[in-house]
Amino acid sequence: MPQTPALGSVRSLIVVLAWLSGSATAQSEAPTLPQYGGDSHLGVVTCAGSTCHGATRPFQNAAINQNEFVIWQRKDKHARAYKVLLNDQSKRIARNLGLKAAHEAKICLDCHSDNAAEDLRGKRFQLADGVGCEACHGGSKRYLGPHVSGENTRQQNLDVGMYPTETPESRALLCLSCHLGTDDKFATHRIMGAGHPRISFELDTFTELQPAHYKIDEDYRKRKQVFSGVQVWAIGQLIAVEKFLKLLASPKYRGIGPWPELAFYDCHACHHPMSDRRWRPRELTRALGPGVVRLNDANFLILSQIAGRLAPDLGERFKRAVEDLHKATIKDQASVQAAAARLGEVTANLRGILVQHSFSAADMKAMLQVMASEGASGEYNDYGAAEQAVMAMAAIKDVLEQTGSLTGGEKAELTVLMSRLYAVLEDPDKYRPEQLSTVLQTLADRTPRS
Ligand code: HEC
Ligand code: HEC
Ligand code: HEC
Ligand code: HEC
Repeated sequence: MPQTPALGSVRSLIVVLAWLSGSATAQSEAPTLPQYGGDSHLGVVTCAGSTCHGATRPFQNAAINQNEFVIWQRKDKHARAYKVLLNDQSKRIARNLGLKAAHEAKICLDCHSDNAAEDLRGKRFQLADGVGCEACHGGSKRYLGPHVSGENTRQQNLDVGMYPTETPESRALLCLSCHLGTDDKFATHRIMGAGHPRISFELDTFTELQPAHYKIDEDYRKRKQVFSGVQVWAIGQLIAVEKFLKLLASPKYRGIGPWPELAFYDCHACHHPMSDRRWRPRELTRALGPGVVRLNDANFLILSQIAGRLAPDLGERFKRAVEDLHKATIKDQASVQAAAARLGEVTANLRGILVQHSFSAADMKAMLQVMASEGASGEYNDYGAAEQAVMAMAAIKDVLEQTGSLTGGEKAELTVLMSRLYAVLEDPDKYRPEQLSTVLQTLADRTPRS
């Protein structure tokens, strides 16, 4: 039946509304983020006793190491997240934004500390502790007592307010709440323009980068479900796409004047020297042509590659929906919203398949092959995409290695190629896409096939 444009836009509006309210997605009930939970946050000192989590060395006979506090305090950047709000860079950001002081501004504290509601802060709670234990594990009011004996099962701990940090989906929601943002807290381009660094995130890589204060051993496996790095990575991509789409459609982040919110766009589409002629057509953005600001589609690109492996038809639909979203950005805001909603629906279909998939060695090798060859032909021209692709390939390589799926020769070769890829990405301001393509071509030629 032919559709009138008006009817078409009413339909789009319905899709947008259904999707924004969550009814069109197969999304499971998301756990409440620690910052917004109903339990009091008692403060890091409460966790730091020497017989609790503050031992200077790992305990031999305990289920957990008990030196979690010391690792966090000495090695984890989260312990310094509040202190950076007092440094010169933060002072400058605050001044440029007209804020009185960064360490008193809600917008900064929301991501740089455990900014729980004021009436839910215990006597020993301090914002100055930065991103402390309870910012990730949940306010401890109800679980503090019962969890000490070690007799509580994981489920019992979760029932009294602990946050499920071990499952990739809930971990992704937690980490991304600060490492991407939410409707309530987001590092806009105005904040970037005032001097905030670019934010990028990949769940598996950042899980590895955060100094581990836990050990996945036999005992851990008895208490908690364990996921492979590739599952963590893939689910991290899915959630990043879902959250990015919601932010993009949010009425709160509509940008300034006629400009959209630039934090959704590829930073280096604008921020690179004019003498550097790097534009080349890419599959997903071909319709835009040169000289156009591009959405940062790094997570979309990676998720399309995952989808292509798990369900080729759906992967194709996903790609076309991403293309349509790009095309919508050169029309108007209503088109962007409608395209984001349609892409949200395809993503919801993919979710059902992806969250329960366990990746075989053949899956991983095939994805590595696709990433390398798409990259060799220029799909990772944008720095953000290149960075996501390299982190993805590293995650896959690690799991292939851990599962004994590579020969000694393959392992040695991949190790050399991965370090060359990291070298190409070292300085975002000096990124040369053609150098990346060259290394990826070698990788594509040599990737072990199953
Ligand atoms: C949406 C969450 C979010 C908001 C809002 C936010 N930040 Fe950040 N900030 C981060 C993350 C995440 C990083 C680390 C980026 C990385 O290294 O990957 C960071 C890094 C920084 C750094 C660099 C730290 C270092 O170790 O070099 C400074 C300085 C900073 N932020 C200051 C601020 C100030 C001031 C504000 C308030 C105007 C603010 N931030 C708001 C999430 C946020
Ligand atoms: C940035 C988020 C974050 C912060 C901050 C954090 N943790 Fe964790 N913690 C995790 C993640 C992720 C895991 C691994 C997944 C899991 O076992 O639930 C974990 C695991 C643990 C475990 C489980 C060990 C096991 O064998 O089951 C303990 C205990 C723990 N953390 C204590 C602490 C304490 C104490 C602090 C503060 C000093 C702290 N954490 C700060 C994210 C965090
Ligand atoms: C409450 C906000 C918040 C949450 C939740 C959070 N982070 Fe962070 N994270 C930050 C901030 C802010 C920084 C920057 C701190 C600094 O540089 O001083 C940071 C820094 C990091 C860094 C260091 C990055 C670098 O450039 O060296 C890693 C790794 C990291 N986070 C991983 C994680 C992981 C994994 C999770 C989820 C388990 C997580 N974070 C959850 C706010 C958060
Ligand atoms: C549409 C183009 C565009 C995009 C996309 C864009 N920016 Fe900008 N950016 C600008 C403009 C214009 C300014 C203002 C430059 C000035 O004042 O000299 C600016 C300023 C900045 C500044 C301050 C520079 C200064 O001179 O103080 C930073 C930092 C920054 N942007 C970071 C980012 C990051 C990070 C991203 C990606 C998340 C990004 N930008 C995306 C156009 C863009």
